[in-house]
Amino acid sequence: MSLDQAATKPHDRLSAHLADDLAAVNALIRDRMASEHAPRIPEVTAHLVEAGGKRIRPMLTLAAARLCGYEGQDHRKLAATVEFIHTATLLHDDVVDESQRRRGRPTANLLWDNKSSVLVGDYLFARSFQLMVETGSLRVLNILSNAAAVIAEGEVLQLSAAMNIATTEDTYLQVIRGKTAALFEAACEVGGVIADQPDNVVTALAAYGDGLGIAFQMADDLLDWGGAAGVIGKNTGDDFRERKLTLPVIRAIARADAGERDFWKRTIEKGDQQDGDLETALGLLRKHGTLDETRAEAEAHAARAAGALEALPDHPLRDMMRDLASYVVARLA
Ligand code: IPE
Ligand code: IPE
Ligand code: MG
Ligand code: MG
Repeated sequence: MSLDQAATKPHDRLSAHLADDLAAVNALIRDRMASEHAPRIPEVTAHLVEAGGKRIRPMLTLAAARLCGYEGQDHRKLAATVEFIHTATLLHDDVVDESQRRRGRPTANLLWDNKSSVLVGDYLFARSFQLMVETGSLRVLNILSNAAAVIAEGEVLQLSAAMNIATTEDTYLQVIRGKTAALFEAACEVGGVIADQPDNVVTALAAYGDGLGIAFQMADDLLDWGGAAGVIGKNTGDDFRERKLTLPVIRAIARADAGERDFWKRTIEKGDQQDGDLETALGLLRKHGTLDETRAEAEAHAARAAGALEALPDHPLRDMMRDLASYVVARLA
């Protein structure tokens, strides 16, 4: 690895390598988020889209296609589709989670209202379908429409599991695989499909996306316990307030003594939270070592993602994707 490579984040190297494609995707996003008939739509979408976002998912689609030698233009449409699906889920998710900050800005539900977020989210979903249809590939439509269904299932499963201190690790894994990893997986997979790759390559891309997506969400769940709001662009402590059972909490509950169990029952099950409870909860996660363990789990999924890449052609983009897998967990340090 050259000094230059060591100094820049894999995410920045990917954007530099894919600069032309990414600029085209951003132009496509701006173009398609407009609406002639309802000015509220571009207001809300511009608020969210202009705030940036890391564009990880569309970059994965672009990288997967280019890595497989694709020379056409349809991967740009697919990358924009993926980012539209992601943005739609963020609008809906912030309503469901009653979140107040996203991408370093107040959320749309706070600035406008829940109704606008739900409806503009629906609009973005519909726009994403239009975009993917333009590629004419039924296989791609199948993958992305399945992903959209699985994301919604993940979010609903999480809703049913919230406040339930008996939630298992299996359920947690199913939730994050649905709400987050499914789109990472589909983003990678469609890149290979549009490039007409054999099954083993498409499967490897899907496995990479799955591992990366799970590692990414586990890292995000850890950041909710500690990342500075300035760094993550969202408030911390939201998951505890929302009484969401993420892995560090599930494991701490499994090891709780009677007093600690009463604490989790009061704060998560009954929702009776007082000043200082967030700090007490964090102390319990530290005591049981579950934050470090979650980090180790995330690292294992990232390593699985990197391993899947070995079936793919040797290519600078493949190296960047491998480094991205380590980086999504390392950003916690
Ligand atoms: C946020 O995803 C939702 C999660 C899966 C945690 P990102 O962290 O990729 O969000 P943006 O697009 O960069 O804002
Ligand atoms: C992210 O869910 C996944 C989706 C948006 C579908 P979270 O609720 O865990 O993520 P943040 O913390 O709001 O980004
Ligand atoms: Mg949320
Ligand atoms: Mg959520």
